[in-house]
Amino acid sequence: MPSGAPAILVRDLRKRYGDHDAVCGLDFEVAVGEVFGLLGPNGAGKTTTVEILEGYRSRDEGIVSVLGMDPGERPRALRERVGIVLQSCGIYRHVKVREAVAYWAGLYPNPRAVDEVIDIVGLGEKRDALARTLSGGQARRLDLALALVGDPELIFLDEPTTGFDPAARRAAWATVRRLQELGKTVLLTTHYLDEAQALCDRVAIVKDGRMLAEGPPATLGAAASRSRISWTDEDGATQEREVEDPTALLHQLTSGALARGATLRDLTVSRPSLEDVYLELTEDAADDVASTMEATP
Ligand SMILES: Nc1ncnc2c1ncn2[C@@H]1O[C@H](COP(=O)(O)OP(=O)(O)OP(=O)(O)O)[C@@H](O)[C@H]1O
Ligand SMILES: [Mg+2]
Repeated sequence: MPSGAPAILVRDLRKRYGDHDAVCGLDFEVAVGEVFGLLGPNGAGKTTTVEILEGYRSRDEGIVSVLGMDPGERPRALRERVGIVLQSCGIYRHVKVREAVAYWAGLYPNPRAVDEVIDIVGLGEKRDALARTLSGGQARRLDLALALVGDPELIFLDEPTTGFDPAARRAAWATVRRLQELGKTVLLTTHYLDEAQALCDRVAIVKDGRMLAEGPPATLGAAASRSRISWTDEDGATQEREVEDPTALLHQLTSGALARGATLRDLTVSRPSLEDVYLELTEDAADDVASTMEATP
């Protein structure tokens, strides 16, 4: 692959299941060494897209290039360079954790040390446990171990931390950051927007198979350019204003308070979080769910 070429290139990707359009013309690129997040409501088409990139699912239309190869042709060279955490896994129920990771390591030309990877995902104490006896979060950690053990240059993580306890989630974040430091490319999906904000260089928000917004988490969408000022007024009520430039309003508020000899308790100036931006962009989807629930007796 020539240097400078993206690790992943997607052009006008389309996928239809029966009469349902799951992916309706997606375009995006992921640069080598980038952590890219695919975000969006349930059924947005994230897993479909990721599985097409992994070569697990066929596409109907569009151009897809992964490490310079077409995953639709299921090239062996691609399999050896890619690690995968599927959204629902649990293939190795009847073997021990260590056996599963060792077997998976054997599929790659230059795998990492099996025990080291088991320790990285925090399963050291469960090394000799049968996979089917793992808790939900522990099973997910095994999935992560399988994705890492081949020391791949590109890693697909489809909701990798679902079911993780807070400490395990932070540990997984540290693992992803380490992968990034090693120059690996990561494509992840997640419903945890703090996770996307913490890990991703860029995110794409998809809904109904279409891209709503794309960019670095901090600058995504129109809402990201606004500031939110909040404070507790003299009656104890929380006040909140959103403005393009907080300078004038802050001056007005603080000078007014000083003149009255009052304090603006809990005064904060903040930018909208990725979650605020996401909810604003995908609002219609939430409305759809609400109206469906209202219509259901
Ligand atoms: N094998 C399939 N056959 C028919 N429809 C499917 C199939 N797989 C997915 N779909 C439909 O395609 C749409 C996109 O599904 P997909 O799994 O890609 O969504 P997602 O964004 O990963 O959602 P989630 O956040 O819930 O994981 C959904 O409406 C889903 O019902
Ligand atoms: Mg999914």
